[in-house]
Amino acid sequence: MAERFEVVQVSVAAVMSVDGKLTRHDEANIYEWVSDEDQQNFRELIGEQDVIVMGRGSYEAVQQSLKLNPKRLRVVLTTHPEQFSERSINGQLEFYAQSPQQLVASLENRGYTNILVVGGSRMISEFLEAGLVNQLYVTIEPRLFGSGKPLTADKPIDIQLQLEKSQVLNDQGTVLQIYTVR
Ligand SMILES: NC(=O)c1ccc[n+]([C@@H]2O[C@H](COP(=O)([O-])OP(=O)(O)OC[C@H]3O[C@@H](n4cnc5c(N)ncnc54)[C@H](OP(=O)(O)O)[C@@H]3O)[C@@H](O)[C@H]2O)c1
Repeated sequence: MAERFEVVQVSVAAVMSVDGKLTRHDEANIYEWVSDEDQQNFRELIGEQDVIVMGRGSYEAVQQSLKLNPKRLRVVLTTHPEQFSERSINGQLEFYAQSPQQLVASLENRGYTNILVVGGSRMISEFLEAGLVNQLYVTIEPRLFGSGKPLTADKPIDIQLQLEKSQVLNDQGTVLQIYTVR
């Protein structure tokens, strides 16, 4: 497992059902079921970051509503970055075919310090497996979906976490849990 970087803080944020699904069945739009309180919390967390990283699948799910901002770089990982070259805006929206390790190293070289990985399953797994993640923000919505994309990809991992904070966000019992990765 790779060493975490000294300067860069890498966090992962996700919202899921009680049974650990990031999506309701095969629906792409999670905002049909995510609580207002989680969305508010997520906006605040985004505001503290200078880079947001997502997989191509997640980018396609949010691209219509994505508001670009010169103060915040969005990075999309895809094995076909050339297909997105016309959408790329240097410093705001960039597409790469890189491993998590390569990406974090190059972002660190460019002076970025706070990186938030926002999904989906494969991205979260790859960053955790590479040993790059310092913190995990998981919101659990009080719902059961039975099927949908899992929090981590369907392969064996064993990563120890330390719960730092658990906060109930609303009357329905949406819970935000913040973990450090041990
Ligand atoms: N509930 C939540 O918190 C949450 C968060 C985010 C997303 N979601 C949902 O999850 C769904 C998308 O998740 P997903 O698991 O299908 O997709 P994803 O992880 O967002 O994207 C997977 C894609 O990312 C690219 N990729 C991943 N690692 C890469 C690497 N190291 N190098 C190059 N490319 C890499 C590949 O793109 P190519 O195929 O182009 O090569 C891969 O197919 C959406 O429906 C979204 O709404 C939910």
